[in-house]
Amino acid sequence: MEGVTDAPMRQVISEHGGLTFCVSEFLRVCSDLFPAKVFHRHVPEFSNDCRTPSGTPVQLQILGSDEEAMGLNAQRAVELGAGAIDINFGCPAPQVNRNDGGASLLRYPERLRGIVAAVRKAVPPHIPVSAKLRLGWETPDAIFRNAEEAALGGASWITIHARTKKQGYAPPAYWNYIGEVKKQLKLPVVANGDIWTFEDFLRCRDETQCQHFMIGRSALANPGLALAISRELGIKRDLSRSSFTENPLAAWIPLLQRFAEVSEPYSQGNQYIAARIKQWLKMAYLRKQFPWFEQIKLCKTVDEIFEVLTDALTREQK
Ligand SMILES: Cc1cc2nc3c(=O)[nH]c(=O)nc-3n(C[C@H](O)[C@H](O)[C@H](O)COP(=O)(O)O)c2cc1C
Repeated sequence: MEGVTDAPMRQVISEHGGLTFCVSEFLRVCSDLFPAKVFHRHVPEFSNDCRTPSGTPVQLQILGSDEEAMGLNAQRAVELGAGAIDINFGCPAPQVNRNDGGASLLRYPERLRGIVAAVRKAVPPHIPVSAKLRLGWETPDAIFRNAEEAALGGASWITIHARTKKQGYAPPAYWNYIGEVKKQLKLPVVANGDIWTFEDFLRCRDETQCQHFMIGRSALANPGLALAISRELGIKRDLSRSSFTENPLAAWIPLLQRFAEVSEPYSQGNQYIAARIKQWLKMAYLRKQFPWFEQIKLCKTVDEIFEVLTDALTREQK
């Protein structure tokens, strides 16, 4: 997620367990070939076999519409260490869409196919190339044609965020379309959108019959969720028990401390890290997972945040 899942966040969330891979923020490709330092800055994991320090693979996400530039940059990324490429056809940001990127390509299925094919052709066959789609620009049935075109372009799998661009992030997510696409395509389909709880996951699995799931906001708002889902899916390497089930605040504090610690080398100062922690906790607060947000929202420094949270924990434990 742009502006959210940077390298420190990927590190901490993947350490917590349950994820089989993470996707980077998007690298916006225009006509130029980026120098190596841009890729390394964007995905520092390139120098660690494209894995987070705890070993979770990271997929490079690219966004753009110039087939040649997308192919060349994907090729360069793989030379530098990328292990998988994801192409963004879902971003609804007006600034991105005005420049012919993200969800705006959902209106041009042949171009979407051309972009996938150009990237597919530019990287070795063992490197997965996936496409992340919304249901459509305005009408959800656009997904049938777009998913097919992505498959014809050679996508290794597609991820579907079950909303149109016009629907933005407004609930509900229309999982039924994902299920229909899955029946139609021979490719793996990853279901995404509004899987906030374990019960949502079960309903989404029932409705779509998918075996693969992407969680975005809830990976942050509900840090125990990925573990619970991976256990249910029988992914054996993550069988540890989430500590978020007992005293959530006691589990949040070390997780946030870890985030503050790993953010340090990347950070633009203490206030920046404090802002990132608040960004995270606001997502949890909005999902009713972090009632203590009211108490920290005016904090300016990392120390202030932890002082307030530790006091709240002490009061709870009395
Ligand atoms: C702040 C924010 C940034 C996002 N950035 C991206 C992005 O760069 N690429 C992408 O494919 N989706 C992006 N998304 C969409 C999510 O990946 C996901 O498809 C969407 O939030 C629905 O899933 P969720 O309900 O699990 O969050 C973003 C969402 C949010 C809220």
